[in-house]
Amino acid sequence: MHTETYQNFIASLKRQNICRVLPLIFNKNIQVQYLDFSSNDYLQLSQSKIVLESGILCAKQYGFGSTGSRLLSGNHTIFEQFENEIALSKKTEKAILFNSGFQANLTVLSALLESKNFKTKPLVFFDKLNHKSLYEGVSLSGAKLIRYSHNNMNHLDFLLNKYQHLDNPKFIISETVYGMDGDRLDLRKMLELAKQHKALLYLDEAHATGIFGLNGYGLSTNQNFKEVNHVIMGTFSKALGGSGAYIACSKIIHEYLINRCSGFIYSTASSPMIIGAMQKAWSLVPSYQPKVLNMLKLANYFRDSLKKLNYDTGASSTHIIPILYSDPNKALKLKQKLADNHILVSFIQYPSVPKSQPRLRIALNINHQKQDIDKLLSFL
Ligand SMILES: Cc1ncc(COP(=O)(O)O)c(C=O)c1O
Repeated sequence: MHTETYQNFIASLKRQNICRVLPLIFNKNIQVQYLDFSSNDYLQLSQSKIVLESGILCAKQYGFGSTGSRLLSGNHTIFEQFENEIALSKKTEKAILFNSGFQANLTVLSALLESKNFKTKPLVFFDKLNHKSLYEGVSLSGAKLIRYSHNNMNHLDFLLNKYQHLDNPKFIISETVYGMDGDRLDLRKMLELAKQHKALLYLDEAHATGIFGLNGYGLSTNQNFKEVNHVIMGTFSKALGGSGAYIACSKIIHEYLINRCSGFIYSTASSPMIIGAMQKAWSLVPSYQPKVLNMLKLANYFRDSLKKLNYDTGASSTHIIPILYSDPNKALKLKQKLADNHILVSFIQYPSVPKSQPRLRIALNINHQKQDIDKLLSFL
């Protein structure tokens, strides 16, 4: 009965042509030289010797494994040092580390939204295209989900007004740079709305960390959060080239999470090797900003060229550039043709993005040159 159920599920995906498989090219750096537009290694730090050496040094000092959760045997000095550095860069009172971005969003949101504490269900205003980890965090909590059209502050305003007579606690959740669309949140407007409706703002800076904001530490660092309760999440898995995540927040939310967030309490802390490496990568971010500016200029050139060729890049304004298709097969064919020519791009389709918008996702990194973009354009 069990096997049959799973088989039926997979068969249905196959009939719809949306069955996921692991890609064949897994050793792309070793076997052939690929022109890679598929990775989130925006600052190319996954290959940095300085970052690696810091990780190794840290492992030698603290051990390869952390040996327990932070509340038991796993709270090494380096964790708290790094958290203080993050809080300083993010201009928050505190920061707290997580083993992955998915784990952070899932378990922090389910803790923050617990209705038992509020004695009523929180209302969560949620961008329709937010990452799955954010969605699952809200679902797990059982809070009421109210979805607004993607990055549409008028729609958010309308929905906040619609529910303003209810005094349930309100939360607004959004990414600051949208991972699949490459557009940016109108954060100033969102702050106004959060202030007006006394909503707590939860921002996911996974794709903005390392690229945008003051010294490259995320879009939130450019804004004034006075009078707005906020929690900012970001990952080390994209621009920082490694893994793990941070939550930057107030002292009281920090204390609450240490006491209530299951993903923090009941999970072994990250390897000190990862933390040492990510601490070094974090410290390097400001020095990469001139290269980031060049990358963003190249992204403008790429988008302009695509538009001249009548391709639709949606609302992208960052280093992430989707090429939208109505027919997934066309996108898939092009991805294959590019791969045959040693150019890697990602093919993304439903349910990761809306059914009507299958796409190729092109992610630039700081090592890309104009001739790389021109080579990619020559196949379009
Ligand atoms: C917006 C966003 N949030 C969270 C995550 C999860 O982060 P991680 O890969 O570190 O688990 C991702 C990764 O795909 C993401 O794009």
